[in-house]
Amino acid sequence: MRILITGGAGFIGASLALEIEKRFPSWQVTVLDGLSSGHIRNIGGFKGELIEGRVEDEELINSLNGKNFDFIHHQAAITDTTIDDEERMMRVNIDGFKNILNLAKRQNSKVIYASSAGVYGNGLMPMKESQRLVPLNAYALSKVRADELALTFAKENKDMKIIGLRYFNVYGPGEEHKGKSASMIWQLAVQMKKGRNPRIFKYGEQERDFVYVKDVIEANIMAMEAKENCIVNIGTGQMTNFNGIIEILNEVLGTHLKPEYFDNPYDFYQNQTQADTALAVHLLGFKAKFSIEEGIRDYFFV
Ligand SMILES: NC(=O)c1ccc[n+]([C@@H]2O[C@H](COP(=O)([O-])OP(=O)(O)OC[C@H]3O[C@@H](n4cnc5c(N)ncnc54)[C@H](O)[C@@H]3O)[C@@H](O)[C@H]2O)c1
Repeated sequence: MRILITGGAGFIGASLALEIEKRFPSWQVTVLDGLSSGHIRNIGGFKGELIEGRVEDEELINSLNGKNFDFIHHQAAITDTTIDDEERMMRVNIDGFKNILNLAKRQNSKVIYASSAGVYGNGLMPMKESQRLVPLNAYALSKVRADELALTFAKENKDMKIIGLRYFNVYGPGEEHKGKSASMIWQLAVQMKKGRNPRIFKYGEQERDFVYVKDVIEANIMAMEAKENCIVNIGTGQMTNFNGIIEILNEVLGTHLKPEYFDNPYDFYQNQTQADTALAVHLLGFKAKFSIEEGIRDYFFV
């Protein structure tokens, strides 16, 4: 098998590239990454081909024509949700995706791409794939447009296989380079490991469906077997609030630190996320294995 992973030097993409190489040693894996948020050190030990380049560079993507990828995992994107330059966001997250879909169409590759729970905004809970999408920022809007593009492409090209995975809040090893865009779990652990009281928005009651990166990698691998085109949630179905995360971290890190609350500066903020996981179970056979306690333990003890 020939596999292309865009954004393969990023948090999720690098884990995926390394896991695929480990599990399927005879497969040829190519990583394409613009090395903007991601970094080469994330894929230390990677044996495949690394192409440094940008997905919105049509000429570069077209030059991959002869590679005949069986699967394309499309992870590359601007992932900083605070960037409000919509034009830049769309150029990378949509024009780039379009180039990848066109490449896949020419080579008959199956595409598995990263969407996001951001598309639901402060919508109904638990969040179902069929509900109204209410993006709250340019990033979330780009993921709504990506899902629309995937649906249009699949409709116009009946032979294409395109699977969208709406990740919820992913955490785990390899996210440090994301800085302020890394998960709340990482942000809080960094402060607590330094013996500081963890700072969170008043009053720590915001809830998230945190999903461990190992589960997300599993979902991507299972999606390669999906029989029908779909866009599905990848979460645990469980919510934990930020106070709860601090309690678990105190236990795992052996600390006794109390939260320090401050005002939320954002006008638009997702207060809760929770995946309805039924469709992922039905169409991919995917169910997250790690509870939040197990994920955090695995993250900080391994
Ligand atoms: N981490 C999460 O909680 C989460 C949640 C929902 C969706 N997602 C999506 O999952 C995917 C992976 O995110 P991540 O958390 O690993 O973030 P990340 O920032 O670590 O990874 C993104 C990768 O894409 C690369 N990239 C950015 N612009 C590019 C371009 N123009 N051309 C080529 N490469 C480019 C970056 O260098 C980076 O390596 C993204 O599509 C993101 O939107 C992530």
